[in-house]
Parts: sequence; structure tokens; C-alpha cells
Amino acid sequence: MNITKLTPWFLFSCLILLSDYIKVNGSISPSSEQTQKDGIFGFKPKKLFVFGDSYADTGNTPVLIAPSWRFPNGITFPGWPTGRFADGRVSTDYLAKYVGLRTPITHKWGKYGRPRLVVKRGMNFAYGGAGVFETMFKLIPNASVQIDFFEQLLRRNVYSPADLNSSVAFFSIVGNDYLTYNRRNGTEQGRPALIRRVVKQILLDVKRIKDFGVRKVLVALSPPQKCLPLLVTPKGCDTNDTSTHLHNSLLRKGLIKLNDKKINNDDKSFLMFDLYNAFVTIFKNKGVPGVSVFPDPLKACCATKRGTSCGDISLSGKKLYSLCEDPKSFFFWDNVHITDQGWRSVFSLLLPDSQF
Ligand SMILES: *[C@@H]1O[C@H](CO)[C@@H](O)[C@H](O)[C@H]1NC(C)=O
Ligand SMILES: *[C@@H]1O[C@H](CO)[C@@H](O)[C@H](O)[C@H]1NC(C)=O
Ligand SMILES: *[C@@H]1O[C@H](CO)[C@@H](O)[C@H](O)[C@H]1NC(C)=O
Ligand SMILES: *[C@@H]1O[C@H](CO)[C@@H](O)[C@H](O)[C@H]1NC(C)=O
Repeated sequence: MNITKLTPWFLFSCLILLSDYIKVNGSISPSSEQTQKDGIFGFKPKKLFVFGDSYADTGNTPVLIAPSWRFPNGITFPGWPTGRFADGRVSTDYLAKYVGLRTPITHKWGKYGRPRLVVKRGMNFAYGGAGVFETMFKLIPNASVQIDFFEQLLRRNVYSPADLNSSVAFFSIVGNDYLTYNRRNGTEQGRPALIRRVVKQILLDVKRIKDFGVRKVLVALSPPQKCLPLLVTPKGCDTNDTSTHLHNSLLRKGLIKLNDKKINNDDKSFLMFDLYNAFVTIFKNKGVPGVSVFPDPLKACCATKRGTSCGDISLSGKKLYSLCEDPKSFFFWDNVHITDQGWRSVFSLLLPDSQF
């Protein structure tokens, strides 16, 4: 499990990632003066719209099917389960805080015409289990359907063109399409074609969001899929992961191409949120200096056997997970998800001018 056992692969990808990191920092900040004043978006957004999966969901996934609504999820913050797949805050919360907004209301509640002031801060359409295509979680709305929900609100003039022009979106679909492919025993030969289809669909999705009039769209790259505790082997994790590299390099190229088209003459409408670099940097340093220490960064705080989730209880009432003492010293919350402290670390790396 110890990352230091993986030195060759690991060093190899660190070299790649170091050069990527410089590029990415450049690509997420339009200009250095703006970065200091207005953060990566170059202006102060008044609304945040979120599309994605469990990394970004703040409570959309139905109580009946989601373990995120059961203890011990939420034990660090706010102290009880809130539908987040974590012990506390997730990416959406940290991003909202970064831009100076409160966490946007979930679509689940927002669609019932909540107070205008609340809805005006944006909305979170992310559902745990979502992919760009249908996943093994059949009832969960894919990214296209999430964007349809947004479009329905626009048709009802819930958000005006000016509202949209002062808003940003976060698009975070990072792996359920691939987990589903694995679950359905997809072949290795078929995988590159799937990756191309997934990335193509992501690019269509983010362009659609932008074309509604949203000013900037921040797009998550894939984390190192084979380093999720779910897939980590006793040897540790293999960061020589050609699939993740293919996904990220196609997505990066696609976004750069979209930016070059100068939609609305806006400079850099699409920004990248490089979860790959953040994760691997955190694994290498066992945390982020001054922010976090993760002695065993590939281990989950809420450990379960394959096929069960953090929060699952057996029919006889026995808990099917074991919980660590101190979630703050763990990067991974469960087999797939990240702790509150893990997200804090990711944001402090990728948005270095943030104060968390
Ligand atoms: C998303 O889900 C809807 C409803 O199940 C389906 O009609 C649509 O084809 C899906 N979109 C993609 C891109 O697979
Ligand atoms: C959006 O706002 C910016 C800055 O205020 C302005 O320059 C731009 O023209 C606006 N775009 C639209 C489509 O209203
Ligand atoms: C995948 O393969 C496993 C092991 O060979 C088998 O038990 C399972 O039924 C297969 N699943 C599907 C969806 O084909
Ligand atoms: C990475 O994996 C590919 C195939 O999956 C293999 O051909 C290559 O030798 C590996 N590279 C390293 C540095 O291990």
C-alpha cells in the first residue's frame, strides 16, 4: 500500500506531471493581474452551476438509494449525513467558497421554486453515480439530462442572460462511465474507443453549457483511476495508467481547441481542473505542506469490502465498514471518494490563491 514501493512508475509519471502542472497553471489563469484580483475566473462570479457525479453532489441523489445519506458520511462536517459522499465538504462546497458564494442549492430542492434569493446563487445538478452516458446506476440522470434540467429553468426565465453572464459552471464527471464498463466486463481492446466517446461527449456537454451564456466553465480532468482504493493492489497503485492519460490528453486538447475558437470573443471560456496532478502530487508528498498530512494516502478512512459502501449495514444490523480514528489524516474517505481534508488539499494545490 505504501506509495514509496512504487518508485519507478511513480517517478516516471511525476516527471510528466511536473511539466503538465506548469501548463495547467497557465491555462487556468487568464492573466496574472486578474488572478490576484479575481481568481482563476478573472471576474467575481455571482452564480455557480454544477454538473457532475458524486465528487460534486451535495445531496441530489435520493435518500433511498444512496449510502451518502447514512452515518458516518458527514461526521466531520456538519456532523450528520447530508447526502455528500464524504465525511464533510466536497468539491462544490470548496469551489463555492473560493469564488465567495455559498454552496448552491441542490436541483432536488431548487426545482420546487425555493426563495428567489437562494436560487439566484446558482444550482447544483450533480448526481452521485452519473456519467456522460447511462451508468450502472440506471435511475441517475446522466450529464445530458442534468443539462436538460438547467435548460428547463432557463426556458422558465429563472435565470436571465445577464445572470448567466455573471455565472460560472463546474463540470465534474470523472469516472462512472469507466467503472460501468469494468462492471460490464468491457474488453481492454474496446477501452480506447470508449474513452474517445466519453471525451467527445464531455466536450459537447461543456460547450452546450457555455452556449447558454454561462461565462466560464471549469472542467475536471480525471484523477489517476488506478489509485482509487477500489483498484489499488497490494503493490500500490500504477500511475502508468494509459487509459487515464488518454482521457486527460484528449480532454485537454479538446478544451484548448474550444478556447481557440474564441466563443463570444471571450478569452479562455474553458478552464481545466486537474485532479490528476493534484492527486499524484498529494500522494508523492503525503499531503500538502502547511495544509494536510496523509501518512498513508492510498488508504480509505471508511474501509469496506468490495461491493459494499461506506454506511452500509447488514440485514442483522451489523455495520459493513470500519471507520478510522481521525478522518483528517486520510486523503480517501472510502474506496472512491475523498475526505473533507482531501478536498481542502486539492483546492489548495489547484487554486493556490485560495484561503481555506
Ligand atoms: C442520457 O440519458 C437519457 C435518458 O436516459 C438518454 O435518452 C440519453 O441518450 C443519454 N445521453 C447520452 C449522451 O447517453
Ligand atoms: C458579459 O459581461 C462582460 C463584463 O461585464 C461584458 O464585457 C460582456 O459584453 C458581457 N457579455 C454579454 C453577452 O452580455
Ligand atoms: C463479468 O465476469 C464475471 C467473472 O467472469 C461474471 O461473474 C459476471 O457475471 C460478468 N458480468 C457481466 C455483466 O457480464
Ligand atoms: C506502461 O504500460 C504500458 C502498457 O500498459 C507498457 O507497455 C509500458 O512499458 C509501461 N511503462 C512503464 C514505465 O512501466
